[in-house]
Parts: sequence; C-alpha cells; structure tokens
Amino acid sequence: EWTPESILKQQINYIRNEVKQERVVCALSGGVDSVTAAVLTYRAIGDQLSCIFVNNGLLRKGEAEEVLKSTQKLLGKERVIYVDAGERFISRLRGVLDPEEKRRIIGKAFIEVFEEEAAKLGNITYLLQGTLYPDVIESTSVWGPSARIKTHHNVGGLPERMQLKVLEPLRFLFKDEVRTLAQQLGIPEKIVWRQPFPGPGLAVRIVGEVTPERLEILREMDYIIFQELSKSPVFRKIWQSFGVLVPVRSVGIMGDERTYEYVGVLRAVLSEDGMTADWARLSYDTLDVIARRVVNEVKGIGRMVYDITSKPPATIEWE
Ligand code: XMP
Repeated sequence: EWTPESILKQQINYIRNEVKQERVVCALSGGVDSVTAAVLTYRAIGDQLSCIFVNNGLLRKGEAEEVLKSTQKLLGKERVIYVDAGERFISRLRGVLDPEEKRRIIGKAFIEVFEEEAAKLGNITYLLQGTLYPDVIESTSVWGPSARIKTHHNVGGLPERMQLKVLEPLRFLFKDEVRTLAQQLGIPEKIVWRQPFPGPGLAVRIVGEVTPERLEILREMDYIIFQELSKSPVFRKIWQSFGVLVPVRSVGIMGDERTYEYVGVLRAVLSEDGMTADWARLSYDTLDVIARRVVNEVKGIGRMVYDITSKPPATIEWE
C-alpha cells in the first residue's frame, strides 16, 4: 500500500534493520531530498546519525543561515555540523573559466571537506544519500553515463573512497512522493517546495570566472528575482527560476550619467524532471518589475534580459 504513512513506516523499519547499531553520516544540502532522508533516518535511529552541512560559498543569499537554522530545528543542534568552507572553494576557482573544470574543482573540494569532517566523527559505517528513483534510472540508462551533457554527480565516488556503505531510503520514490513524505515528517513548506539547486551552485550561474565581486552581484540580483516570483501565484509551477550573470559590459544611462555594467539574465523554466524544459510565460508586469528593480537596486547590473530558450536545445543552466 502506497500511502505516506505506510511509506514512512516501511522506510523506518528498513533503516533500522539495515543499520542496526552502526553509525551513519549524511551530507545535508538543504534541498528537500537530503533533508527528508535525514529526518527519516533520524526518526529511525536517532543519535546514530550525524549530518554535515558544507557551505561552499556558492549558495544563494541567506541560504546557508536558513538551511542551518531549519535543519538544526528538525534534527537537533548537535546533529548538524556546519562547515564554512567558502574561502577554500572560491580561492580554487580563481582564474578558472571552463564550466566542467569548475565542476571538477568544486566536487573535489567538497569531497575533501566532507572527508575531513567525517574523519573527526570516526567510526562511521554508512553514508546516507537522498537518491531518488529517477537518479537510479538515469545512472543505468541505456544511453549510459557518457550521454550526460554535464557531470552532475559531484560527489560520485565518495562512498568507495571512504569505504562506506550507502544508505538510500528514497531510492524508490519520485519527487512528488518525497514532497508528500516530507510534509508527513513535518518538514517546513519552505524546504518542501524548494527548487532544485545545482551542487556547484552559483559558480555555474556566473559565466566564466567566479570572483567574490561577481558572486555578490549575482546574489543580489537572484534575491530580487526570488522575492518577486515567490509572490506570484505561478511560483509553484516553476521548476527553477534564478539569475545568471554575464560578465560582458553594456552601456546604459542613469540620471545623466553613462553607465557601463554587466548584463543580468532572468531564467525561469517549467519542467517535470529537468530533462526537458520550457521557458515560463511570465506576465509582462512581472518581467517589468524584475528588470526595473534589478537595474535600479543592484550595483553592477546595467541591463536585464529574459532567456526564452527551451531545453533542448539550450540547457537550464547557462553552464
Ligand atoms: P541542465 O542545465 O543540464 O540542468 O539542463 C538540468 C538540471 O540539473 C541541474 N544541474 C546540476 N545539478 N550538479 C547538480 O547537482 C551540476 O553540476 C548540475 N548542473 C545542472 C540543473 O539545475 C537542473 O535542475
């Protein structure tokens, strides 16, 4: 039987039978999958679970604080270890332009930080992962992993390296089922409905080189986009919406001064699973407010454009 209650019960039993007295570590990202996996596991085995939340310095405005606060509330303060590793990630990205190179650097730095923290815990047997059914299918797809356009599995190889067994209590669920389960577990709406966010974060939303200055500009632009769209009734239909920084300068005029600033892009797409996507038909008024607010309020952006390309042929992210 496939009710939220029965899934919950089954999964709790499954985790208890599998883990027994061993200890489990989890990498929290703040997304609905990892938080649901963690809360579920916490219900099953309590303080045998430890979670590590790595702030890679590439998160959206306010996200790190928010994720930390809400996960500590759900799991208990001592269950969530927070690592502020922004400096390490950002210094390694200096001078790097290639998107796949950025992904490799971020993936490698993540594994390092995670291993260091897990080593401090000692005596861990399992790595908890919020893998969903579509991820399971994708990795055994007939096209094979080489058919992937972008290397998404940033932490691939982690369990083997650390010699950990994998615990994947969500591996038979689809996204909508995870959201139902999350609600059942009392996870706040804000997390339940959080949009997917790529592991390499804002680094793949700044075309070319990532710098602290560009990150700051992108965060402010992205935050205005979030504020305006989250008010709109179409927000829950949107798969992902965000800003992209194109570090090409464009001429403008403000007051009676000539400006010469970066181009900002608004991206908002509808999708079922991220494999294909269509650009969201936002109202002209919404587009207008966003463009005005960004150019007026964000120092560094002089022009806003709306990306009206579907996937395929474009991808959702710009890199
Ligand atoms: P694309 O840009 O390929 O994105 O159309 C499809 C979905 O995957 C997300 N994405 C990533 N997720 N690591 C991730 O964890 C990555 O490197 C990565 N690149 C893209 C993207 O946000 C969208 O949901």
